[in-house]
Amino acid sequence: MQQETESTGRKGQGSQDHHMKILTIVGARPNFMKVAPIIAAINKHNDRIAAGAAGQSESSTEMIQHILVHTGQHYDELMSGSFFNDLNLPKPDVHLGVGSGSHAAQTAEIMKKFEGVILAEKPDVVVVVGDVNSTIGCALVTSKISFDSSGSRPLIAHVESGLRSFDRSMPEEINRIVTDHVSDLLFVTEESGIRNLSKEGVSLDRVHLVGNTMIDSLLTFKDKAEESTVCEKLGLRTGSGKNGDSNSIRPYALLTLHRPSNVDTRDGFLSILAGLEELAKDFPVVFPVHPRTRQRIKEFGLDFHAGPHAAKSNGDRKIPGNHGAGIMLTDPLGYLDFLCLMKHAAIVVTDSGGIQEETTCLGIPCVTVRENTERPVTVESGTNVVAGTKKEKVREAIRRQLRRKSSAAMPKNWDGKAAARIVEILIQTHCSRNPSHQPLIPLSCV
Ligand code: UD1
Repeated sequence: MQQETESTGRKGQGSQDHHMKILTIVGARPNFMKVAPIIAAINKHNDRIAAGAAGQSESSTEMIQHILVHTGQHYDELMSGSFFNDLNLPKPDVHLGVGSGSHAAQTAEIMKKFEGVILAEKPDVVVVVGDVNSTIGCALVTSKISFDSSGSRPLIAHVESGLRSFDRSMPEEINRIVTDHVSDLLFVTEESGIRNLSKEGVSLDRVHLVGNTMIDSLLTFKDKAEESTVCEKLGLRTGSGKNGDSNSIRPYALLTLHRPSNVDTRDGFLSILAGLEELAKDFPVVFPVHPRTRQRIKEFGLDFHAGPHAAKSNGDRKIPGNHGAGIMLTDPLGYLDFLCLMKHAAIVVTDSGGIQEETTCLGIPCVTVRENTERPVTVESGTNVVAGTKKEKVREAIRRQLRRKSSAAMPKNWDGKAAARIVEILIQTHCSRNPSHQPLIPLSCV
């Protein structure tokens, strides 16, 4: 990393006082659970410094100052606000209020507004996570910013780096590639990330296999999720057992679909739904509906029949089946409710990236309705099958997964400590760029 700093001719500038200043970006729903553990690890570091260094004159200069920026890419209470409560995230220090738009308009708006923030805050490090438009927008701005005539700029740290679907028609794939190539520190979640970055010529001294901060969140909140009453609300509880007692919960499947490639054409969307027909005859299929998907259901006039707990205001309908099963539409769910539903599901069918990883960690069979995955570890050692989107393939994959004996190996470093590793590397890298700053805590502390 020191080499990289020298080769770019840039020295860390950042805050004018002696605090190391880290600015973290969130924008869209999948960002919140990836960032929460990083903020918690920073707080823990600061607490340790405060406790250990009480009475020592230098302690105040060794804290990390953290700024949370929300771009506003997602803005609904159900897509954003509720996650701040569930994950104990602090209120954003800065909200850019960008909102929806075409990719170009949304990304451009993020970039225009973020430039002012970074110039005002002058952080030492900008942390971006995942592959959404907020990620690429803020990484790109940071890579070209200049705080002074020598071209000082913050370090760019990309969390969840190196994932590749090798499908450039996916907007996220472009976001991943560009973000990785302008980043200084690349934190990867699985070994495929190291291979991919190496093939693209990225110097491996910038790449760190730290684990998965989304899994940090899952492990932190797994037990708390049992307090959710979502199973009762959806009529899935059969007995009077406690929430954590799976025996008192009726078997059900969980479905999410939001990718434009899956829901933006009527035929494509219907093909996936047809692949689910058999499943929906045997199990209630709980389907929390993303706003984009909600819009398409309306536009295409898809006919679901009203379920008892569907989002009534939207006139949702559920497809009838035997035993009172069918597809049960709900509004988007909060983090803890969704985690509770994943934990107890017989099977999860999804086109999300993160859910493939979460089900691997929970040992729940997952069918991914996409042609590829950027997260191969979930297939190689996890619980995931990539089915494609054709009716027969989806149906066959579901059958296979329902017969599956639970067997999953936890990928390397998915142990709840990814965020602590990241914060440690950020501190060490910052100190090596700024020799007057000594490492704030010894490596062994993390
Ligand atoms: C974005 C990410 C995607 C991620 C997904 C999770 C990009 C390129 N895509 O896709 O990788 O898997 O988030 O949800 O960044 N909308 C609302 N309320 C909101 C947010 C969005 O109604 O709070 C509606 C708007 O009509 C908007 C549409 O959803 O146009 C899509 O939102 P957008 O942020 O453009 O992308 P997502 O499809 O959510």
